[in-house]
Amino acid sequence: MRRSARWGLALATLALATACVVAGRDADPADWPGIASMQSVSGRDFYHECGATMISQSWALTAAHCVETARIEGGRRAIQYVPDADGQLVRFGPMIVTIGAGDLRRVTKGTVFPVKGITVHPGYTRGHPERGNDLALLHIDGAWTGPVARLDGLTGSVDSFDPPYMELMVAGYGKTGEQATSQEAASRSGRHLTAPMMVLQQADLPKIGGEACKARIAELITQYGLQDDYAGVSVTPDTQICAGAGYADSCQGDSGGPLAQWGNGGAGPVQVGVVSWGLGCGRQDSPGVYMRVSAYAGWIARETGITPTVTPAAP
Ligand code: ARG
Repeated sequence: MRRSARWGLALATLALATACVVAGRDADPADWPGIASMQSVSGRDFYHECGATMISQSWALTAAHCVETARIEGGRRAIQYVPDADGQLVRFGPMIVTIGAGDLRRVTKGTVFPVKGITVHPGYTRGHPERGNDLALLHIDGAWTGPVARLDGLTGSVDSFDPPYMELMVAGYGKTGEQATSQEAASRSGRHLTAPMMVLQQADLPKIGGEACKARIAELITQYGLQDDYAGVSVTPDTQICAGAGYADSCQGDSGGPLAQWGNGGAGPVQVGVVSWGLGCGRQDSPGVYMRVSAYAGWIARETGITPTVTPAAP
């Protein structure tokens, strides 16, 4: 709900809600190394805002639009700010990440960390994930000792992306449809959690070729009469991946989370994308747009100090 307020900068006039994993199924977090829920905390109220993945012991990867209004206070605490009705930013509360949860209601020791630093990609335009570079890095306070996501072009590599390609898979705690309402849960200790979905979902998505995706998004923008708001908006295949053709899709609350490819000679999942934006969720022939991780491998390595174990793609 608060997320849509921010996303609303770009989409309010469009009256299009974005959803979470649509037409998905319950996921096993063991299949999603480093999967994380980025939450904002106000008193005892926890709100899932976005997906993320741990990519090292101390860094998480997410979407820039998830943290574009957050600030670091006291030198070491990320605080989420939320626009009020007049668009003024109001302090909401500290940001945390909860890692590896199959169900956000059941969180174990050593899986919740405060965020102490945020690096938004310098090419990102606030309020405009659809203009690209929609990536941010979260520096957590503490050390995550569980599994981390392997990133295409940095710590992993994938089979060919060209057809016939393997299907891609997306995971998240986002909505299951444009009209889906949030779930709420209260713990015995008096904590209250709001999330689009408590149980991690995943869905298989076909990859859509860059040119076909560009053409399709342009058609949809015209069809929805969004030419003014989305003037010049396009998909840049070098830095973005399109996946999904309606039916299964990511949705609101999935942003920042992983798009992964399986296969890879049995080596398990490699994260190739980060959920960024789409026109509605699960609409017919409407692809979701993901940031292409491999195009940012150099930036991620420089900012986090993660040592590349594969040759990063040319910038
Ligand atoms: N912007 C959404 C979020 O903040 C994600 C949208 C993805 N949409 C889609 N149709 N694939 O969670």
